[in-house]
Amino acid sequence: MTTTPTTEALAVANPSAQLRRPVPRPLAPDVLSHLQLHLQMELQASYDYFRLAIWFAERDWKGFAEFARQEALSEHQHACKVADHLIDRGQAIDLATLQPNTSTWDSVEAVTQFIFDNEVAVTASAQQIYSMAERAGDYITSVFLDSVIQQQTEAEAQAAHVMSRVRLAGENPAALLLIDQELSRGEGNRPRVADGDS
Ligand SMILES: [Fe+2]
Repeated sequence: MTTTPTTEALAVANPSAQLRRPVPRPLAPDVLSHLQLHLQMELQASYDYFRLAIWFAERDWKGFAEFARQEALSEHQHACKVADHLIDRGQAIDLATLQPNTSTWDSVEAVTQFIFDNEVAVTASAQQIYSMAERAGDYITSVFLDSVIQQQTEAEAQAAHVMSRVRLAGENPAALLLIDQELSRGEGNRPRVADGDS
């Protein structure tokens, strides 16, 4: 006797994916639906950060524009990794239409606050799925999410650092220009106490 699901059972659970690959361990329905939502969140974040890159570039904040552009690329890469996980698990991927963010921002600080809040929301989503995966005994997804949560923790800390620098500058354009130059030179990383990876 085996606990491996039959191909017929999997075909009912996920018809289009089952046409392509055999699936040794189907995802629990809540894990699957939230991974789909998480994928959408990452894509939306990439879209939103691209808009922020435009917002900064229009105002000649060169370094901030580059920071937002890099963040947009990184969110897109995160979405790709979630997609790969779903494909590897034999799941069909449903993509929803991205919605343009209609928020308006009146300061650099407001934009950095938006980025920080967004990173916190994405991390919360990953943690929620982690709990679901643990409950479902889906350790493959847990292991996958380990790296996702680690990356999110880094992204949150970096967003917090940039926002903190901007808050220090306050409304002083000269101070903001210094931060902008730091980001332009790729020197915007948060300070670290430990040296390297050791
Ligand atoms: Fe992300």
